[in-house]
Amino acid sequence: MTRTVYVNGDYLPETEAKVSIFDRAFLMGDGVYEVTSVLGGKLIDFAGHAKRLQRSLDELDMPAPCTMDELLEIHRELVKINEIDEGMVYLQVTRGAPDDRDFVFPDPETVKPTLVLFTQSKPGLADSPAAKKGIKVISIEDVRWGRRDIKTVQLLYPSMGKMMAKKAGADDAWMVEDGFVTEGTSNNAYFIKGNKIVTRALSNDILHGITRAAVLRFAREAQMEVEERNFTIEEAQQADEAFITSASTFVMPVVEIDGVSLGGGTPGPRAARLREIYLDESRKAAI
Ligand code: PDD
Repeated sequence: MTRTVYVNGDYLPETEAKVSIFDRAFLMGDGVYEVTSVLGGKLIDFAGHAKRLQRSLDELDMPAPCTMDELLEIHRELVKINEIDEGMVYLQVTRGAPDDRDFVFPDPETVKPTLVLFTQSKPGLADSPAAKKGIKVISIEDVRWGRRDIKTVQLLYPSMGKMMAKKAGADDAWMVEDGFVTEGTSNNAYFIKGNKIVTRALSNDILHGITRAAVLRFAREAQMEVEERNFTIEEAQQADEAFITSASTFVMPVVEIDGVSLGGGTPGPRAARLREIYLDESRKAAI
């Protein structure tokens, strides 16, 4: 079935959607994005994603293409038209398409931002077999730029990281800088020791995950201790459990780090419970 996508005010079949070759995201990686998950045909934590989008735009001095209320309407319309029950909505805003290539930002008065949204149907996203098995990660050096808190479309190194993981027979990679884990290629990274969850503190070094914020809140409500600090691969390898979070994986148990098994190689009870709580609470608050 041909998807209906959204481009600059129009709902179009995906085959008819077009963006200029001079678009700043195509030439310069000058764009930001959000991925919002859909469960039961409803959006999970739209407010969080809208807020982070606004922050990304502000940090890059990029004009917003429309109001956040209008964005919500476009998300809902696409979910409805494409009959998405479980899956994601991808949104991208770029600095637009000037009439030539130039490093200097175009005048926002004459060049309007490009806005693109499309849906991805993922039946069984919540009841994922991977969540029952857990995933294996390897560690790689973090060589990304210094503003990882801005959700830009510059995803070449994360893509390379996923390929390195695949080549090594693993599912994903955790990135390490100055000896400490920053985050996963497209997710935040955690380990659990006893009743304590450890994850890197928020800074420009990592993306401020929307799922991270919710999961840490639920963990504290469930009387778990949360410590936001630097940690090494070796410390995570000695943990009871480990997991990642993102809008597309929710809470996903990690059962192996650089070839070292955790919890006998099967997902532990705490990560599984956090996933359950996250899914239950998110479904209740979905819009
Ligand atoms: N990735 N860290 C990085 C580098 C990410 O790319 C993501 C999200 C996260 C988790 O953020 P959130 O919980 O808000 O999804 C952390 C999305 C899902 C992606 O690129 O597809």
